[in-house]
Amino acid sequence: MRRKVIAGNWKMNMLPNEAIEYIQEFESLVKDTKNEVILCVPYTDLFYVLNCAQGTNIKIGSQNMHWEEKGAYTGEVSGEMLKSIGVQYVIIGHSERRQYFAETDETVNRKIKSAFANELNPIVCVGETLEEREAGKTVEIITNQTRLALEGLSENQVKNTIIAYEPIWAIGTGKTATSEDANHSIREIRQEIEKNYGKDVAEEVIIQYGGSVKSTNAKELFLMSDIDGGLVGGASLKPEEFAKIVNFE
Ligand code: 13P
Repeated sequence: MRRKVIAGNWKMNMLPNEAIEYIQEFESLVKDTKNEVILCVPYTDLFYVLNCAQGTNIKIGSQNMHWEEKGAYTGEVSGEMLKSIGVQYVIIGHSERRQYFAETDETVNRKIKSAFANELNPIVCVGETLEEREAGKTVEIITNQTRLALEGLSENQVKNTIIAYEPIWAIGTGKTATSEDANHSIREIRQEIEKNYGKDVAEEVIIQYGGSVKSTNAKELFLMSDIDGGLVGGASLKPEEFAKIVNFE
């Protein structure tokens, strides 16, 4: 039985004082959950949030990283840097990064390899645009993104990769994929992994759904057979609302 993993993606929100207040309130609301709880916060919040969440069941991730260890890459942050302060997770290839910051399947793959080299667990995002969906290309797009993202990884690394299926048309729009639809796409992703790495690996990989998840739709989505939790944007910005999503059962 796969565990449920619920991750919040704060995107470019929350100043350090707001982040600290959030953790102080959130911590007691999720302390009894059996689900895994992750908060992916802006770089400038990481140090504060890591301190504040110490000794709790809340794990901390960043929202991006560079694939090189160090060097002349002005403005970038490496996996080694994240690891050095105690970060455990990193979102890679979010559609906003693919769309606005020229992230490609190749850079996504390089970043995942660097994440593992630095003992960080990647949360890798895949998902189709509305245009691609309407053209009937959803499965082709998401299975290709998955295959290219995981290329060259060991079976063990694939098992430890979290994939977030986030249809782009559902992000921040209030439009959620139906639970059947999301489950179907996620099953396609799992089958793609099975094709390349075998059934045992595919059955272990955590695949989340993301896109307008709220406390009112979380349960229905997360109880589907292939949906192993969620990657939550807007609704993760309020501790009470996000705690309801974490405690969905
Ligand atoms: P929303 O939950 O705000 O739709 O964002 C989803 C997302 O992009 C999480 O990474």
